[in-house]
Amino acid sequence: MLPEEMEQRREIEARMRAKARTWGYREVSTPSFEELELFVIRSGEGIIDEMYVFEDKGGRSLALRPELTAPVLRMYVNEGRSLTKPVKWCYFADCYRYERPQKGRYRQFWQFGVELIGADSAMADAEIIMVADDLLRTAGVTFTLKVGHLSFMRTLLSGLAEEDQKKVRGFLDKRDTDAASAFLIEIGREDLSAPLTRLIQARTLDEVFGVIGEIPEADRIRETIAILTAQELPFEINPAIARGLDYYTGIVFECFAEGLGAENQILGGGAYRLAHLFGGEDTPSVGFAIGFDRVMVALDGRVWMPFQPRVQIIHTPALREGALGVARELRDAGVRCEIDLSGRGFSAQMKSAGKNADYAVIIGEEEAAAGTVTLKNLRDGEQQTVPVRKALLILTGQQ
Ligand code: HAM
Repeated sequence: MLPEEMEQRREIEARMRAKARTWGYREVSTPSFEELELFVIRSGEGIIDEMYVFEDKGGRSLALRPELTAPVLRMYVNEGRSLTKPVKWCYFADCYRYERPQKGRYRQFWQFGVELIGADSAMADAEIIMVADDLLRTAGVTFTLKVGHLSFMRTLLSGLAEEDQKKVRGFLDKRDTDAASAFLIEIGREDLSAPLTRLIQARTLDEVFGVIGEIPEADRIRETIAILTAQELPFEINPAIARGLDYYTGIVFECFAEGLGAENQILGGGAYRLAHLFGGEDTPSVGFAIGFDRVMVALDGRVWMPFQPRVQIIHTPALREGALGVARELRDAGVRCEIDLSGRGFSAQMKSAGKNADYAVIIGEEEAAAGTVTLKNLRDGEQQTVPVRKALLILTGQQ
């Protein structure tokens, strides 16, 4: 990634991090690789097939992390168990999946994620969805949010063997509803094909429960949806959301960006249980991860960046020491400031500044003697001779 792209990524990343902090989520960091077993336990076949696995010199089987929920929960079990619950953590890190690369699908990609560990309520589910919405909004991306619950499909498919249920969910995760129906017919359960279609098309909870009947989780789901609706969060109920990972247990949600083609899912998450599989207590958790690279593709360079003027110091060779002193003062105040490195004359320096800078800070004999600089705005050509301190105030936008 070249500097322009990196600057935009850093800007969006900073906005997401700052926004997560306003909700009380604090950043954590985990290693790039973990024991392979950590991801095999409950991540699901899709992820396992795509992992970068290797053996280290000690003969241990390790994997580059394909995602961070399992590592973060391992870390919680190892180090965070004594913390007051709920634990609210966020992360920004790279992940590795051996996928067929294309636009928006990479073998190394970045996730900004949030995990809420040890809270088990409609309010907790709703908060995580609101944080997801808030983070994408702060990034400036246009998206739709779809919310579902795993119990919808599980209830409908409860008569099927676990393997067959998984297959149907796999088709739904790939948004291939025709294949899901065809599979039901193939295993002799065409009776489920029509209800499956009705469930997939349901867009209200009444329609959902009309197909599957009342379920024990219904009250909590209604409450979560009521909180989101009261907060006027734009979202759609979508019972077809299956999620590709195996650890989800409850509410699930995904966000899709406009104009990204097939790789338009920019966020995925839900409620899950992993801590007990890593040696901890059974701990209800909920979280999500944003596909950061896809967000950047969706923004397509439309990132508002705070204006930071580029300054070029122009000086005669004899005045180099003083010029370096001025440069240091400007840099100490956070101004981005460069100085000639090739011993070029005054006019060659001016020419280069015209191309690469917004301001020239000119230090000639007169300025050096008076402790001033001539500050030239290279965009409109205006210039004024002022004390260094005043130039600094202008360049930092304080005057
Ligand atoms: P995931 O849906 O596998 O969920 O990944 C989250 C997001 O990462 C996806 O929505 C997508 O935007 C992005 N992503 C996935 N694969 C790629 C790729 N090859 N290239 C670019 N972007 C990609 C998880 O990883 C869960 N750990 C989310 C979670 C957190 N659930 C609970 N807590």
